Amino acid sequence: MRALIVVESMFGNTRAAADAVAEGVRAAGAEAEVVDVTQAPEAVPEGVDLVVIGGPTHAFSMTRESTRKDALAKAGSPNGEAKAETGIREWIAAAAPDAGVRVVTFDTRVKKAFIPGSAAKSAAKALEDRGFEHAERGETFWVEDTPGPLKPGEVERAREWGRSLVS
Ligand SMILES: Cc1cc2nc3c(=O)[nH]c(=O)nc-3n(C[C@H](O)[C@H](O)[C@H](O)COP(=O)(O)O)c2cc1C
Repeated sequence: MRALIVVESMFGNTRAAADAVAEGVRAAGAEAEVVDVTQAPEAVPEGVDLVVIGGPTHAFSMTRESTRKDALAKAGSPNGEAKAETGIREWIAAAAPDAGVRVVTFDTRVKKAFIPGSAAKSAAKALEDRGFEHAERGETFWVEDTPGPLKPGEVERAREWGRSLVS
């Protein structure tokens, strides 16, 4: 099995979760490649059986240009321009629909008082609307606060989740 993991991350937490998911996929004996959403191909490449798409939750959903700019300004992130332009919302909107491939989403969010909304949920719905018939909402990985870090144990949980996707 070959997995492509497409990730968006402003402070690095969703990227860390994506890297851990990839480790889990590899530990289960499959291949995994992680690509930043700004570099991701618009069509699912030949030979890829699983696409995992992860992004941070902003304003109860997937990021938008305005929320990305806000996060990037706080993060002082390099490659800010490309990152401001393209998040998973834009990637899904432009992606060539692939009805056959399994696509699973994940997100990161702050675990404080209950805040509704999840980028993983919105992304799964957007993928379905786009024509990905096998789109599933996957996990949420929790961060301590807007800049992170991931809560203790979340990297390990992401690794285990990655492993569980290979079956
Ligand atoms: C503009 C903005 C809006 C946010 N809105 C939410 C939200 O609605 N719910 C939530 O749980 N976290 C929210 N967050 C926190 C992000 O989810 C957190 O920064 C993200 O998980 C970190 O991931 P990253 O390091 O990959 O960028 C928001 C952060 C920013 C910058």
